[in-house]
Amino acid sequence: MKKLLVIGIGAGHPEHITVQAIKALNRAKVFFILDKGYANDDLLRLRRDICERYIEGDDYRLLQVRDPKREDDRQSYRHGIEHWHEQRAVLFEQLIAEQVTDDEPGAFLVWGDPALYDSTLRILERVLARARQVFDYQVIPGITSVQALAAQHRIALNRIGEPVVIITGRRLGQQQGVEIDNTVVMLDAHCGFERFVDQDLYIYWGAYLGTVDEILICGPLREVCEQIKRTRQAARAEKGWIMDTYLLRRAVD
Ligand SMILES: C[S@@+](CC[C@H](N)C(=O)[O-])C[C@H]1O[C@@H](n2cnc3c(N)ncnc32)[C@H](O)[C@@H]1O
Repeated sequence: MKKLLVIGIGAGHPEHITVQAIKALNRAKVFFILDKGYANDDLLRLRRDICERYIEGDDYRLLQVRDPKREDDRQSYRHGIEHWHEQRAVLFEQLIAEQVTDDEPGAFLVWGDPALYDSTLRILERVLARARQVFDYQVIPGITSVQALAAQHRIALNRIGEPVVIITGRRLGQQQGVEIDNTVVMLDAHCGFERFVDQDLYIYWGAYLGTVDEILICGPLREVCEQIKRTRQAARAEKGWIMDTYLLRRAVD
């Protein structure tokens, strides 16, 4: 049977990769590198570097494929995502049909960990449901940007016995009137933390975590809010892209 490996490669640091992932890299024969068509060549380069660094020998192929562009659906966010996932399922199906054989496993290199805000596993389930391709797949966990954020700030995500919530910037925007605590925010293009500046919160912010361009800022939100906004805007303008994550935490009484 055809075999696929979904390998978490960490969120930017080339050494944030597990021994299990290195072994999986050495089992795969074709790597699908999804090019999102952004200006973020850096992210493609990191995937290539990881292959060159950890794969022994050169008996493998890297296949850079253009990821279908996600069109915003004005009627429904869910419908837009659904349509995009279907397009990606068709693409994955074609790649598996044409590039993977019983003797040559294929691999998807997933940023961070495949379990966190990544659709690769959902798309593979979709491909299986379409029943045109039969394959088995294995998931190899990776270090998430959330773990990298906590490590770089040298903090635990929760205080003793407290829960941790991980949400998107979009969802944070819907949290009007909700008490925020130990909340990790990802995929926030609009500095959603600014809306909470009047609350007594502490923020731990990190951009380009694990890379040479890493930026870390932390402090009481009302004191560092403007600094983070300015820094984020300048970095994004300079590099053409940004990935940032932050933890919002209620200050202790
Ligand atoms: C589509 S999600 C992918 C998350 C990934 N699967 C993970 O495990 O971290 C992309 C978001 O992850 C966060 N992210 C990923 N890499 C990052 C990095 N190196 N530094 C800061 N944030 C990062 C950002 O919030 C970004 O918008």
